[in-house]
Amino acid sequence: MRREELYVKKIRNGTVIDHIAPGHALDVLRILDIDGKEGIVVSIAMNVSSKKLGRKDIVKIEGRELAPKELDRIALIAPSATINIVQDYSVAKKERVNLPGVISGIVRCANPACVSNAKEPVEPTFKVESSEPLRLRCHFCGRIMEKDDVLKQF
Ligand code: CTP
Ligand code: ZN
Repeated sequence: MRREELYVKKIRNGTVIDHIAPGHALDVLRILDIDGKEGIVVSIAMNVSSKKLGRKDIVKIEGRELAPKELDRIALIAPSATINIVQDYSVAKKERVNLPGVISGIVRCANPACVSNAKEPVEPTFKVESSEPLRLRCHFCGRIMEKDDVLKQF
């Protein structure tokens, strides 16, 4: 992309979450538990044109690198995302998020009677039946969890 075509200016240090499916930037912020009250500088571009995706959303978070746990959460909500770690204005590291076939410990089962919600130390585990649209099946009770069910937990 030529410089004059940038929708949001480059950042000095931080994280750029690029190639988010169009219209899903706010879901990414929600899953990262960022609502603006933290005082960190966040820029968002929505439905901008992209060579790869036609349209895409971008989130730029200044002065913050994401923890592996946060990357796992982004994979659930934005499996097409690219994570760019920016240091001193250049991309120091670029990685795709990765949604594995089975996820453990990130999402809780929405079924209150599920054994994974009981007192026993059972780690909630889901089979990823589909990534877009998101469809997770609880390993213990078979409950299907969709994107909105997941977003409610964050
Ligand atoms: N970016 C930024 N600030 C910087 C450097 C990069 O905000 N100092 C943003 C760019 O605007 C882009 C993303 O980070 O949205 C990735 O940058 P770059 O790797 O330079 O762009 P592309 O080569 O287009 O990336 P890709 O191949 O992943 O599409
Ligand atoms: Zn369950």
